[in-house]
Amino acid sequence: MPPLHDPRLPRRGLLIGTAAVSAAGMAAGHAAPSQPVPSAAFPRHPENPAMASVSFTVNGEARQVELDTRTTLLDALREHLHLTGSKKGCDHGQCGACTVLVEGRRINACLTLAVMHEGDSITTIEGLGSPERLHPMQSAFVRHDGYQCGYCTPGQICSSVAVLEEIKAGIPSHVTGDLGAPPKLGDEEIRERMSGNICRCGAYSNIVEAITEVAGERT
Ligand code: FES
Ligand code: FES
Repeated sequence: MPPLHDPRLPRRGLLIGTAAVSAAGMAAGHAAPSQPVPSAAFPRHPENPAMASVSFTVNGEARQVELDTRTTLLDALREHLHLTGSKKGCDHGQCGACTVLVEGRRINACLTLAVMHEGDSITTIEGLGSPERLHPMQSAFVRHDGYQCGYCTPGQICSSVAVLEEIKAGIPSHVTGDLGAPPKLGDEEIRERMSGNICRCGAYSNIVEAITEVAGERT
């Protein structure tokens, strides 16, 4: 029999040959394995995951969760702690809908594993303010109509809060003209720093106004 990759082999012959090889393998007891074989890259079967206990502070409250070590921080917050304010837009670090604050710094919660945050202090949109007592940035978003569908809004607000802290700390961005001087908050700085937060409704100009207002209130 010519080799299976022989281009001269007609299609019908190829099918017959393939069936014969499969049948021979089964007769010899070589049925295809039903479970993936553990390897260095995938040491465990998905149905038998490595579990871990993680403790962190979420919105000021000590929390402990038992989870699959592959669980992202976003899934830990949403699925384990039922804090669904942080949204899953892309799950690939592209949209910013999942932005939360970890130790005061913004982070895409879909791009980091929960087990990497043992002992950390995490703030989600639920921890920034409450319906009765909104965070100044939340109020400004409402006043300036900084959202439409609201899906990106929790991430936008967490990012906006972090942007003001970055400016206060003197951290430059790609559009900061003078790296030796403290960055000044302007439309260009805000748009650059908020560029990781996508709004499909296009509320950008109102978001910039909201951030500018809160920055003005603070200085
Ligand atoms: Fe995390 Fe889009 S869901 S960046
Ligand atoms: Fe709808 Fe931003 S308000 S995606």
